[in-house]
Amino acid sequence: MIKILTVIGARPQFIKAAAISHTINSHYSDEIEEVLVHTGQHYDANMSEVFFNELSIPHEKYNLQIGSGSHAIQTARMMEGLEGVIAKEQPDAVLLYGDTNSTLAGAVTASKLEIPIIHVEAGLRSFTKNMPEEINRVVCDHLSTLLFTPTIAGLNNLKQEGFQLENKGPFTVDNPGVYHCGDVMYDISLMYKQIASEKSSILTALNINNKKFILATVHRQDNTSDNNILTQILFALDQVSQESGIQVILPLHPRTKKILDDHFKDVDWTQNKISSGIKVIDPVSYLDMVQLESNCCMIITDSGGVQKEAYFYKKPCIILQNETPWIELLENGSTILVGSDKVKLIKAFHELRDDNRVFEFSDIFGDGNGSKFIIERIIANIRN
Ligand code: UD1
Ligand code: UDP
Repeated sequence: MIKILTVIGARPQFIKAAAISHTINSHYSDEIEEVLVHTGQHYDANMSEVFFNELSIPHEKYNLQIGSGSHAIQTARMMEGLEGVIAKEQPDAVLLYGDTNSTLAGAVTASKLEIPIIHVEAGLRSFTKNMPEEINRVVCDHLSTLLFTPTIAGLNNLKQEGFQLENKGPFTVDNPGVYHCGDVMYDISLMYKQIASEKSSILTALNINNKKFILATVHRQDNTSDNNILTQILFALDQVSQESGIQVILPLHPRTKKILDDHFKDVDWTQNKISSGIKVIDPVSYLDMVQLESNCCMIITDSGGVQKEAYFYKKPCIILQNETPWIELLENGSTILVGSDKVKLIKAFHELRDDNRVFEFSDIFGDGNGSKFIIERIIANIRN
């Protein structure tokens, strides 16, 4: 039996972990024991617990309850907690997802304890080291023993950074194994799309059944830490809505809500809206999000996960960033990068809203079996 310690802490990691945990529990529980550690990076019920319940993720054995803090404080506390858990559990490998501070803490701690790291969502780069996520990705990849990259661009990035794609096992941190495996978020989207349409009542609750609406999310550090930038984005969303008469639904990340509450006090939050065109709601559950994504007419986001989901559900998407590590999304013209520039955003909106435009959405995220592929490679390569 191989013992894997999975470290998760932020919303998108619960969703990614759901794909792998489901696959282990349904097909590989004789070969892999998974122990879940929640760092506590995200802790509000609608940022954490709701995903465990809705996606039937096994409850974590450890919750480090780290909570929020500066990058250094948050990461250091996680590392301290993880060191104790790893020493106690003595796993054969530590499994990490994506690029959050929970990923970074897991990578540094496990590698110093000489525990092999498995990185799911390896190789992604936006080539902007002022982005905390870019730092976390690069560090985690270079400390990993098994790297699973969801896209061909990810594979090429690793090659550029000196990873030998032809390496043969036994794999170690100095002789890592690199695999292209497809996207586990795509796997989970296939599992839950139908269930979301049956179970979610969000469209009725928001009174947008059979109505055109735009779905938006904003939470990136570079879009929220400067009030002028955030204001520009909100005004652009407002203008899009005013000009088109299409309502914007904005499930607000707690980071952004806190900033708006602290710095935009004149905004009338009691009305639960910024202007008549933007409806601000609390973060929603995964099934509600899938239902919103698959029924909207366009997505405007700075979220890595949501920009991919726009593609999964064949929706035009405006990315509120100047670059994306998911460069394949840009190839069919359905996705446009605008940063936080109001003029570019409105131009992109007009370009994409043309109902006569038809986009080709190809299978750039695999065939829905990425999780199975990953687990089989773990079984073949991790020694117990
Ligand atoms: C983190 C990740 C980011 C990811 C995002 C997913 C890092 C560096 N960033 O950003 O890559 O895209 O998660 O959502 O790891 N807060 C709450 N309640 C919560 C969680 C957060 O109120 O349950 C508020 C706190 O004010 C906190 C702020 O949100 O300071 C930011 O949270 P944090 O986890 O530090 O970063 P995210 O912006 O969520
Ligand atoms: N998501 C959700 N409810 C929301 C907003 C997002 O369930 O209110 C899901 C979304 O469908 C995607 C993931 O959370 O699967 C993306 O997480 P987030 O945007 O927080 O982080 P990122 O992907 O940018 O790291």
